[in-house]
Amino acid sequence: MAELKLTNVAKTYGGSVDVLRDINLDIEQGELIVFVGPSGCGKSTLLRMIAGLEKITGGTLEIEGAVMNDVPPAQRGIAMVFQSYALYPHLTVRENMAFALKIAKKPKAEIDAAITRAAKILQLEDYLDRLPKALSGGQRQRVAIGRSIVRDPKVYLFDEPLSNLDAALRVATRIEIARLKESMPDSTMIYVTHDQVEAMTLASRIVVLANKGIAQVGTPLELYETPDNEFVAQFIGSPAMNLLPGEIIETGQMTRIALDAGGTAVSAITTQASQLGMRVNVGVRPEDLTQTDDTPLFQGTVDFTEALGEVTLIYVDRPDGGEQLIAKLPGIHKGLRGQAIKLGANPTKVHLFANGQSLRLG
Ligand SMILES: Nc1ncnc2c1ncn2[C@@H]1O[C@H](COP(=O)(O)OP(=O)(O)OP(=O)(O)O)[C@@H](O)[C@H]1O
Ligand SMILES: [Mg+2]
Repeated sequence: MAELKLTNVAKTYGGSVDVLRDINLDIEQGELIVFVGPSGCGKSTLLRMIAGLEKITGGTLEIEGAVMNDVPPAQRGIAMVFQSYALYPHLTVRENMAFALKIAKKPKAEIDAAITRAAKILQLEDYLDRLPKALSGGQRQRVAIGRSIVRDPKVYLFDEPLSNLDAALRVATRIEIARLKESMPDSTMIYVTHDQVEAMTLASRIVVLANKGIAQVGTPLELYETPDNEFVAQFIGSPAMNLLPGEIIETGQMTRIALDAGGTAVSAITTQASQLGMRVNVGVRPEDLTQTDDTPLFQGTVDFTEALGEVTLIYVDRPDGGEQLIAKLPGIHKGLRGQAIKLGANPTKVHLFANGQSLRLG
């Protein structure tokens, strides 16, 4: 039985603003599910509906088999950690963590044991008697997480918990969250983030939300390697996957596509769905393009380069005037600007889409 089961869950604000429809999702115990998607797509709304902070306007939410739609937040066995960690400034770390348990009139010995356990997991043992103002941003966020851990919830919900931290602290706290999850293998977590690296590194599965629904659910590598549609293909990975329009000119062992921009692409994808003459978009990730002289997929003029040290991003103008192609080549490449460049890709790395959907699915 799934720990959390969402069936046709929908959300309409004020009877008219339609935000989410037909969300179907099973989450197993011990998973760390990450919600990603464009700003305003409903990530926080979905999380808040699971927490019970927002009314579910359609469908059902079950936790361990029991329908939760009308169960108050405190009785769902869920704890939520927000982006802005509102600690009580006049209470110590220990008192902040004890707060909810004291309100719930738990015995002192139980509260102490819960705090000792949480402080150990979060490495806050040396800070228990400090006030929040004497802590760094990352330590405060850990206290906020500690307040959830002491309640020993079945499910943890995180809404962009690291987005207020600077870059270095984000990385450190991200690793702490990964360790936290490892130390609590049976706890189920749902985590909302804008950060691709957080999503790719933390998630057991990623849920991509778009256009009021789920665009795809899969492990991070499934989404990266086999996106179901153009939206997911371009949303996961940075810079985004290049899409080049063209027409299928050969099917069989391989699919061959004449690109509008002039070159020829060869894809290892062969399905019933690939028909001669069919209009497709050829998708190639910037990191899958290589400089080549024989049968290039693409030739163009380098407009701009960005040297990132380990890799160089090459922005190439398309002969047909379409959107620039981006290649990510290993190492440092100087003096390419204004030069002609020929790029190719391994057929196993070439994706094909028709009407926005992957042909692999056909
Ligand atoms: N109380 C409300 N009344 C009406 N519309 C709302 C309300 N709260 C949120 N919305 C709308 O619902 C949509 C989803 O909002 P939500 O906050 O869930 O998005 P999000 O994916 O979390 O975005 P972000 O990445 O910017 O945090 C938005 O279009 C928003 O304007
Ligand atoms: Mg949000």
